[in-house]
This record gives sequence, structure tokens and C-alpha cells, in this order.
Amino acid sequence: MIIIRMCRQAIVSASLILLPATLLFAETPANMGPKTIQFKMGTKTIVFTHQKHQKLAKNNCWECHDKKSGKIPNWGEATAHKLCIPCHDLNEKGPVQCKECHKK
Ligand code: HEC
Ligand code: HEC
Ligand code: HEC
Repeated sequence: MIIIRMCRQAIVSASLILLPATLLFAETPANMGPKTIQFKMGTKTIVFTHQKHQKLAKNNCWECHDKKSGKIPNWGEATAHKLCIPCHDLNEKGPVQCKECHKK
């Protein structure tokens, strides 16, 4: 009996810890981040229309941010390509060819 109760208590307190994080993302976060972001690679720059993409994703931040908004972990070539290209491919909209993103 006592063991069962303790387990229950552990589950309840665990969900209490998890709850605020879920709630935080159920509503639109206070910090929407920059309107546009410039990704620099050597002499080339990609202008990423962050705000426009938020609308394209219907404000589902987690299309790109994993549970938490803000910096994306391990940001770089591999992470970016995995995030950016498949969605353009699927929607048949947005750049998928190297030159369309890496131009200037
Ligand atoms: C289409 C993809 C995408 C969507 C959707 C998106 N973001 Fe972002 N966001 C990014 C990328 C990419 C960065 C830059 C990540 C980095 O530099 O680590 C970024 C950066 C940010 C930053 C700045 C982080 C920093 O400290 O520089 C904030 C804050 C942020 N996003 C909030 C949001 C919120 C809130 C939403 C939902 C309303 C959202 N984003 C939706 C892709 C997206
Ligand atoms: C959730 C799906 C989705 C993700 C993820 C996404 N895009 Fe897009 N992107 C789109 C769509 C849809 C368009 C076409 C918009 C239009 O035609 O108006 C687009 C258009 C673009 C364009 C064309 C110019 C513009 O702003 O319309 C660029 C450049 C671009 N995306 C860069 C990126 C980069 C860089 C990333 C990764 C950081 C990214 N996108 C991630 C859906 C996405
Ligand atoms: C949807 C836009 C998009 C497309 C299409 C794309 N890339 Fe990228 N690429 C990016 C982004 C965003 C970064 C990450 C920039 C950063 O580190 O902030 C990146 C990073 C890179 C880097 C690393 C550069 C550096 O200095 O770190 C190389 C190399 C690269 N891409 C080559 C390619 C090649 C080759 C293709 C075609 C097979 C391609 N990319 C297609 C958006 C794109």
C-alpha cells in the first residue's frame, strides 16, 4: 500500500514539474525572437524570414524549435539542412536547391 502511494506521489510531482513547460508552449511565447535572421557563411548570407516562417508554420514554434524556443542546439550545416530543406520539399514551396539559399 505504502509503496503504491509513494509511486503515485512520485508520478504526480513529476507531472507537476513537466506541466509548466507544456503550458509555456501551449500559448504563444512572450519572446518571439528576431523578425529576420542572417545566417553568415564566409562571404555569403542567407536571410531567413523568421517572422514570416512563424506564420507559415501557423505559430507552431515546435516545427523548428524542440519544446523550447530560442537557440537551436547544434546549429550548423547538418542541423540547418535537416530542418529547412524537407519542409520546402514537402510543401513544394521555398528553396531546395543549393544555389537558391547560398547565393550572395
Ligand atoms: C521555420 C522554422 C522556425 C519556426 C517555425 C520558428 N522559429 Fe524561432 N528560430 C528559427 C531558427 C533557425 C532560429 C535561429 C536558431 C539559432 O541560431 O540557434 C530561431 C531563433 C529564435 C529565437 C532567438 C534565439 C536567440 O537567442 O538568438 C527565438 C526567441 C525564437 N526563434 C522564437 C520562436 C518562437 C516563439 C516561435 C513560434 C512563434 C518560433 N521561433 C518559430 C526557426 C524557426
Ligand atoms: C514548416 C516548414 C518550413 C520550414 C521548417 C522552413 N521553411 Fe522556408 N519556407 C517555407 C515555405 C512554405 C516557403 C514559401 C513561402 C512563400 O512562397 O511565400 C518558404 C520560403 C523560404 C525562402 C524564400 C524567401 C521567403 O522568405 O519566402 C527562404 C530563403 C527560406 N524559406 C529559408 C528557410 C530556411 C533557411 C529554413 C531553416 C532555418 C527554412 N526556410 C525552414 C516553409 C518552411
Ligand atoms: C533552405 C536553404 C538551404 C539549402 C537549399 C541548402 N542550404 Fe546549405 N545551409 C543553409 C543554412 C541555413 C546553413 C547554416 C548556416 C549557419 O551555420 O548558420 C547552411 C550551411 C551550409 C554549409 C556550411 C557553411 C559554413 O560556413 O558553415 C555548406 C557547405 C552548405 N550549406 C552547402 C550546401 C549545399 C552543397 C547545398 C545543396 C546540396 C545546400 N547547402 C542547400 C541553408 C541551405
